[in-house]
Amino acid sequence: MGDMQTSFVMVKPDGVQRGLVGEIISRFERKGLRLVGMRQLIPSEELAATHYEVHKERPFYAGLIEFITSGPVVAMAWRGTDAISVCRNVIGPTDGGSAPGGTIRGDFALEIGKNLVHGSDGEETAEFELGLWFPEGEVDWERVTEEWVYE
Ligand code: RTP
Ligand code: MG
Repeated sequence: MGDMQTSFVMVKPDGVQRGLVGEIISRFERKGLRLVGMRQLIPSEELAATHYEVHKERPFYAGLIEFITSGPVVAMAWRGTDAISVCRNVIGPTDGGSAPGGTIRGDFALEIGKNLVHGSDGEETAEFELGLWFPEGEVDWERVTEEWVYE
């Protein structure tokens, strides 16, 4: 069994506009992960720029910031064993057009830019992103069905 981790996941503005928030949340929930943080907001330029700082020099950066600040997003924290890689697997590869069916991007996205959802790509990134989007910390709680998810 891997480590208990928390991942930062965000439904991007296209997911909210297309009415896929419930569908997306449901995928993580059914997987067995535990929701320990959730808020809806329209990201400021500053928040978006800090979040996507690693992509600052990339050609798609300006368009990415414009997209992510264009409307409400749903920011979430999901906790579970190996949550970071598990969330990435639930989300699927970056380009929706070639992402496999069964993943969120594979089932609902056609492009690389409008790919519905973000997930942290490593432990350090997760820690940074959770601190950025949930400055007051997550909401930890004890789940009574835990023994039906984990051995
Ligand atoms: P994310 O960070 O959103 O979870 O996505 P990712 O790890 O799969 O992809 P990443 O390389 O981190 O890129 C961040 C987001 O930038 C947009 N993008 N557009 N037009 C392009 O070539 C391009 N490449 C990346 C996507 O929205 C991607 O999710
Ligand atoms: Mg990324």
